[in-house]
Amino acid sequence: MSENIIFVDKQYKFILDLIPMGECLVNKGKSITSFTSEVFCFKFKEQQEQGWVLKPISVNNLREAVAERAAYKFSNEAGLGIVPETKIGSYKGMVAIIKPFIDSNNHLSDETYKYLLASNNDNIKDLKNFWFVFGQWDTSSDNAIYTNDGRLISIDNTNIANIQKVGTYGEPHFVKTFFTSHPNEGSIEQADRIIGPGKNVLEVLNTKFGENAAKSVNAEIIAKKPYFEFTYFVNDNYVWRNHYSFDKFPNYFVPKAQMDIKSLEKFTTIKNIDCNNIFKTTLQELQTILEMQEEPNAKSIIYSLDRHFDIICEGINQRYDLAYDYLVDQYDEGIAELTC
Ligand SMILES: Nc1ncnc2c1ncn2[C@@H]1O[C@H](COP(=O)(O)OP(=O)(O)OP(=O)(O)O)[C@@H](O)[C@H]1O
Ligand SMILES: [Mg+2]
Repeated sequence: MSENIIFVDKQYKFILDLIPMGECLVNKGKSITSFTSEVFCFKFKEQQEQGWVLKPISVNNLREAVAERAAYKFSNEAGLGIVPETKIGSYKGMVAIIKPFIDSNNHLSDETYKYLLASNNDNIKDLKNFWFVFGQWDTSSDNAIYTNDGRLISIDNTNIANIQKVGTYGEPHFVKTFFTSHPNEGSIEQADRIIGPGKNVLEVLNTKFGENAAKSVNAEIIAKKPYFEFTYFVNDNYVWRNHYSFDKFPNYFVPKAQMDIKSLEKFTTIKNIDCNNIFKTTLQELQTILEMQEEPNAKSIIYSLDRHFDIICEGINQRYDLAYDYLVDQYDEGIAELTC
């Protein structure tokens, strides 16, 4: 059966060899990474040398499609080159994300990943600032690829779509998670932590917050984990959770990263990016796809996504300011030390 992807410009492209990502990684002799979405690899009929990745997105999760496409636009407009070119299309009546398959030697081990993150070269500094400012908080090694030309890049950027808060530059993001009638507890500076075997953590969560907690985490998977940590605070009826595991990746940010003038100038190019414009143009693309699919609720879906991404954009601007102030202070301190 012939299958195709339709792009925003209404161009049809025929595809071949669509297979689940797990199988694809094994065929390429790589180990299987940890992931939850239905992700596939495939080839375009007219250009069979290059592999591609397809991620169908359900109509309830369209914010993920916007996040993936917008992440590419951010990286591209800032000249960072750390997100593969990502497009929105239509596949079998579903919205889908399409990007090139990036070849790499193999999945990164935790050790190699930690080592790379600590190396703090220009590529790593750009990547950390991209993660921090744009809110790609899920920086596990499954979401990064070390390319054959020696660069670490960010391949799964759906989490940009989460409403999130940060305390100071370099601190991990807290994600707005679920509603609770529980009173305020902890704070972004002093978060609470529930730790232990997955089953026990789930019990504590259930006692404290009721069913909403179990629904917000992947309870089946967590119940089997010998160790799990849930770091959070409660503010105005919402639980804000930090998913970051300090035990696993202590080098998310190197607090005293050396900021030279070149990196600082590069960072300021991020300021010129109009995140409202990026989200709005991406939403127009999505609307075109939904209308092509004759989605009856296209208008209201786009309207509610538009409001959601206004909030996301405010967060991006705030994090930019936090990072910029920190980095400029640090740069000034460095200059002062040199001139002493
Ligand atoms: N562009 C790419 N090039 C090479 N491999 C990729 C690419 N995109 C995804 N993969 C592989 O597919 C796996 C799953 O993809 P991805 O991380 O996007 O899905 P996921 O984690 O299930 O998504 P989500 O977090 O949105 O639920 C990755 O860990 C990686 O091994
Ligand atoms: Mg992933």
